[in-house]
Amino acid sequence: MRATATLPPAALDLVGMREQVDSAIDRFLTAQAAGPVGHRMPELIGLLRGFLAGGKRIRPLLCVTGWYAAGGCGDSAPVTRIAASLELCHAFALVHDDVMDGSDTRRGRPAAHRAFVTAHAGHRTGVDARQFGVSGAILLGDLALAWSDELLHTACAHPDRLAAVLPYLHRMRTEMVYGQYLDLLATGRRSGDVAAAMTIVRYKTAGYTIERPLHIGATFAGADQKLLDAMTAYAVPLGEAFQLRDDLLGIFGRPRQTGKPTVDDLRQGKCTTLVALATRAATGDQAATLDALLGNPDLDDAGCATVRGILTATGATVEVEAMIRDRCRQALAVLDSAPFRPAATATLGDLARLATERIR
Ligand code: IPE
Ligand code: IPE
Ligand code: MG
Ligand code: MG
Repeated sequence: MRATATLPPAALDLVGMREQVDSAIDRFLTAQAAGPVGHRMPELIGLLRGFLAGGKRIRPLLCVTGWYAAGGCGDSAPVTRIAASLELCHAFALVHDDVMDGSDTRRGRPAAHRAFVTAHAGHRTGVDARQFGVSGAILLGDLALAWSDELLHTACAHPDRLAAVLPYLHRMRTEMVYGQYLDLLATGRRSGDVAAAMTIVRYKTAGYTIERPLHIGATFAGADQKLLDAMTAYAVPLGEAFQLRDDLLGIFGRPRQTGKPTVDDLRQGKCTTLVALATRAATGDQAATLDALLGNPDLDDAGCATVRGILTATGATVEVEAMIRDRCRQALAVLDSAPFRPAATATLGDLARLATERIR
C-alpha cells in the first residue's frame, strides 16, 4: 500500500479563500468610490472599510466551501463574489445589531454608531451626537445591504444559477431579521424557557451563519436536495454551538480577543440560553439578584462579577459548555457519511472546531 493512501484528504485553503473574498470586497468598494455618486461618498466607504476589517469571514468561507462540497469546479471568481456579498450583508446586520444592543465596540474598534460621532466631532451644532451616530449607522447598514445585493447581482453568474441561489439568500435574510426580532422581544424578560432561547439562536444564527451560506454556495454549484439536507444536518447543531459560544464569550470572554465588551448582554438583560439555564436552577436569592442586576444600564464591574458568579454557581456555564460539545460532536458525526467532496468534508471538520473552540 502506498503511504499516501492512508492520509486524510487535504482541506481547502481557507487563508487563500479569505484573501480572495477580501479582494473581491476591496475591488467592489474601490469601484463604488470611483463611481458617479457625490464627493462625500468616500467618507461612507472609509467607515464601511473600517467596519469590515477584522471579521472572521465565516459566512463567505462556508459559502465557497459549500460550492466546492457540491462539486463546484473551474473559475471560483463568481462564487467568491457571491461569498463577498454575504460579508456585506453581515456588515449590515452587525452595524444595526450594535445599535440595537447598545454595543460601543465591534471587532476591537468603535462600533459604527460610535465611529460616526468621532468622524464628525466638532462639525455640528444643535444635533444630539448620539442620535447623529445612530442615524449614520442606520444609513451605513442600509448601504451595506444595498451593496451586498449589487455585488451579488453583478457576480458574473449565469442567470439560471443565480436564480437557484436567490431563494436561499432570501430565507437567510428573513430568518436573521426574524431571529433578531425574537431576540429583541426577549430582551429584558428573564425567563427559564431554554427552548425559546434556542429558537432565537436557530433563527438569528444557525440559519444565518452556517446553514444558508452553505446552501447558497451549494445551490450555485447545482446541489441536489440530499446534499442540501446533509448540510442542514451539519449546520444546525454547529450554528447553535456557535451562538452558545458567542453567548459565553459575550460575558466571560476577553475583550482584547473578542473585540467586544463583556457588559452589553448583562446591561441589556439579554435572555440568552445561558441566562435561561441559570434562571431554571437559581435559588430564590440568586433569582432576586439576577432580577436586580440584569438589564440595569448602569451595571458596574462589581455587578457584572456578581452575575457571572451566579451563572457559574447555578451550573449554567458548565451546561452551556456541554451543549456546545454535544452539538459540535453531532455536526462532526454528520460529516462521517455526508456526500460532500473529501476536501470539503475535511474543511467543514476544521471549521466546526474553529467555530466552537474560538476565543473571538
Ligand atoms: C457575530 O458573528 C454575530 C453572531 C451571529 C454571533 P461573527 O462571530 O461571525 O462575527 P465576525 O464577523 O467574525 O466579526
Ligand atoms: C447578532 O447576535 C446576530 C446577528 C444576526 C447579527 P448577537 O448580538 O448575539 O451577536 P454579537 O455578540 O453582538 O456579535
Ligand atoms: Mg444582538
Ligand atoms: Mg450584539
